[in-house]
Amino acid sequence: MGTIGAGFSMSLDGFIAGPDDDIQRLFAWMSLGDTDLNLSSGDTDFDLKVSSESAENFEKSIQSTGAIISGRRMFDVAGAWGGKHPMGVPVVVVTHTVPQEWAYEGSPFTFVTDGIESAIESARKIAGEKNIGVGGANITRECLKSGLLDEIHIDLVPVLLGQGVRLFEYLGIEPIELERTGVRVSPGVTHLSFRIIK
Ligand SMILES: NC(=O)c1ccc[n+]([C@@H]2O[C@H](COP(=O)([O-])OP(=O)(O)OC[C@H]3O[C@@H](n4cnc5c(N)ncnc54)[C@H](OP(=O)(O)O)[C@@H]3O)[C@@H](O)[C@H]2O)c1
Repeated sequence: MGTIGAGFSMSLDGFIAGPDDDIQRLFAWMSLGDTDLNLSSGDTDFDLKVSSESAENFEKSIQSTGAIISGRRMFDVAGAWGGKHPMGVPVVVVTHTVPQEWAYEGSPFTFVTDGIESAIESARKIAGEKNIGVGGANITRECLKSGLLDEIHIDLVPVLLGQGVRLFEYLGIEPIELERTGVRVSPGVTHLSFRIIK
């Protein structure tokens, strides 16, 4: 069975977006390398330049991911990725209200209104043996609190944003021990991977 992992570009002071959900500075490292990486969503082509190590990270992640679970805010902020997530996999959106325009037969989006465990069940059916990615700070915290997350991947950006959307706040839980499983240093970013010890 695949793992459930969350991955974010994060400032040193713990923000995954600045004010107004701005992620420009946090994603700047994706144009600082010497290796071309082309991704496309439903409405945008991303011609990225990353280090060969970062490109390898991306490729590995794209190949091993079978579905993504997104919080409704991330889905809305991304404009439903124009109808196709850049990783090219189906997305399970956790929400209280289903946006009817995206809920049709064959839609790349599945909407789940009865909680994170149900979302994981749906994502598992879609992903088969592949891994599940989790996106959105709120939804990631829910997975953490419920002990459902296996891995955390942080692309640590050397900037102090000071305000915005924090990843690790309001956890209200006992300390969670992590095992560091990977460190890769690239221009403008340090890729850190952790396994959650259960
Ligand atoms: N830096 C990066 O790598 C990166 C990557 C991804 C996202 N981001 C940023 O992350 C931010 C989005 O994260 P977020 O924490 O604000 O929101 P989020 O986790 O994407 O979504 C939270 C929303 O999901 C719905 N939801 C969550 N749990 C639910 C449950 N149990 N049952 C039903 N609905 C539930 C609710 O929406 P409703 O009540 O409206 O349905 C809730 O308000 C954006 O700023 C985005 O730019 C950054």
